[in-house]
Amino acid sequence: MIVSFLGTKGGTGTTMLAVNSAADIRRITHRPTIVVDLKIGPGDVALFLGLRTRHTVLSVIDQLSWMDPAAVSRYIGEHDCGLHVLAAGDEYGRPAAKDVEGIEQMLKCLNALYDYVIIDAGNTLTACTATALQLSDRVMLVANPDVPCLRNLQRLIDAIKLAGVVGERLKIVLNRASEFGVLSTAQIEKVLGLNIDYCVGSDYRTVASAVNSGVPVSTLKSSELHAQLDAIARTLAGPKHTSGTHRAATPASDDDPIDSAARHHL
Ligand SMILES: Nc1ncnc2c1ncn2[C@@H]1O[C@H](COP(=O)(O)OP(=O)(O)O)[C@@H](O)[C@H]1O
Ligand SMILES: [Mg+2]
Repeated sequence: MIVSFLGTKGGTGTTMLAVNSAADIRRITHRPTIVVDLKIGPGDVALFLGLRTRHTVLSVIDQLSWMDPAAVSRYIGEHDCGLHVLAAGDEYGRPAAKDVEGIEQMLKCLNALYDYVIIDAGNTLTACTATALQLSDRVMLVANPDVPCLRNLQRLIDAIKLAGVVGERLKIVLNRASEFGVLSTAQIEKVLGLNIDYCVGSDYRTVASAVNSGVPVSTLKSSELHAQLDAIARTLAGPKHTSGTHRAATPASDDDPIDSAARHHL
């Protein structure tokens, strides 16, 4: 199974969600799981896990065409939690349009080697990202509850649908849903006419301490954030591991004054 996380803009928590979903899927299923950093330029996936890897996505793309696909494992790092990691290269501007074929070949190869391939697709829809999304069984769009982010969300959904990703494959994750208090989830759903599939609250302390220690959130003391991330991982891991996790849709109230302001901006 391939799952891609794509941010509606920088800083929405795409890397945090990709890394922790991957680590939780590995913890829950004990199946071979890899997180791949497809962000253009230097990415943060390896950093979030406190790893320094010698090889990157770019080494794989550049060498896969002539090497034995099974040799890809030599290019992959491993975290203590058992999660495998393919870090981003530090070349600015790559993966670029010329890498589309390499990305496709690499993802197909990883999909054959791993039960779960989790992709941090960054926050720009490029030819390479579109290729990854097309190969994905799930595309998780990550937004925050602020007007610029939600405006991008609407446009991004249209662009992704044009790229051929439609229906049940596309899911929306509202990260830091508890933080700003300006727009509630119900208001957002009403204004955008969309269903938010997952909500993750804001917990800067827990996220920062996980990143500072280079570990997934699940290894720290239990938190609401961990329970929410665990729930997302269980739905991605499949029916055997699901535990009643999708958020219950809460209808927005009709007479909310914030609605008209939000509608105006969006
Ligand atoms: N749910 C959350 N609560 C608190 N802080 C968060 C949350 N999600 C992400 N962050 C923080 O926000 C910043 C951006 O997150 P990151 O995953 O790097 O975003 P992106 O990959 O979309 O640019 C990081 O400092 C991260 O620690
Ligand atoms: Mg990131």
